[in-house]
Amino acid sequence: MSHLSDIKLKIWRQAGPDQGGRFESYLIPSISDEASFLEMLDVLNEQLINEGREAVVFDHDCREGICGTCSLMIDGQAHGPQRGTATCQLHMRKFQSGAEIVIEPWRASAFPIIKDLMVDRAAFDRIVESGGFITAETGGAPDANLIPIPKPVADASMDAAACIGCGACVAACPNGAANLFTAAKVAHLSLLPQGQPERYKRVEAMVETMDEYFGSCTNHGECEAACPKEISIDVIALMHQDYRKAKFANRKTLSRS
Ligand code: FES
Repeated sequence: MSHLSDIKLKIWRQAGPDQGGRFESYLIPSISDEASFLEMLDVLNEQLINEGREAVVFDHDCREGICGTCSLMIDGQAHGPQRGTATCQLHMRKFQSGAEIVIEPWRASAFPIIKDLMVDRAAFDRIVESGGFITAETGGAPDANLIPIPKPVADASMDAAACIGCGACVAACPNGAANLFTAAKVAHLSLLPQGQPERYKRVEAMVETMDEYFGSCTNHGECEAACPKEISIDVIALMHQDYRKAKFANRKTLSRS
């Protein structure tokens, strides 16, 4: 284990949603290269509290790359310099002694800043809520093997289900689009038999809720590069295909009712 010295931090500080913000500079004199990025911020906060100053507010929960709560722009990259890695899984060995690290909150108008580095990602919840529930038979739990699902389809669904909803895709997109997030949530159900009964109702509602809050996708691909779970933008093509079909399927359903 070695130590990094003199890590300079430039951190966005903002007292509240309607307040102006500014960068403030801090120095971490010494930190283990085995410390995680968030542990380094914990050290900074201890330092600030000991000096009688206000700690930096940032989001985190599982610290295991599972929950999607951590959310930092590090040197202009969502989740920092290591591909396929959430902020909480990033380690200080990725940086050099004397490095200056710029830390900002997610930059997207759909994610307003709550305080410092914490943003409100409720717009993602609105998309998921609009997707509603799936229809599932109740009664005794059937043996999983009774619903045959080809392996490539199960794999594709699981890949989409890996989305942790962190919002890096939106923060990295120059348009602030949420297409990768929405498409992942649509695909993980639409690929499976259990997701079929509401498939077209769901995709139409989720895409239209997404459009209310977020920008439009123009295929930059930054979302895929920033995604800590490396979800492919192929899911966006699948979502567009389903949405087009939904506009016909749902119109037919409406005219019959
Ligand atoms: S804190 Fe849960 S994914 Fe980073």
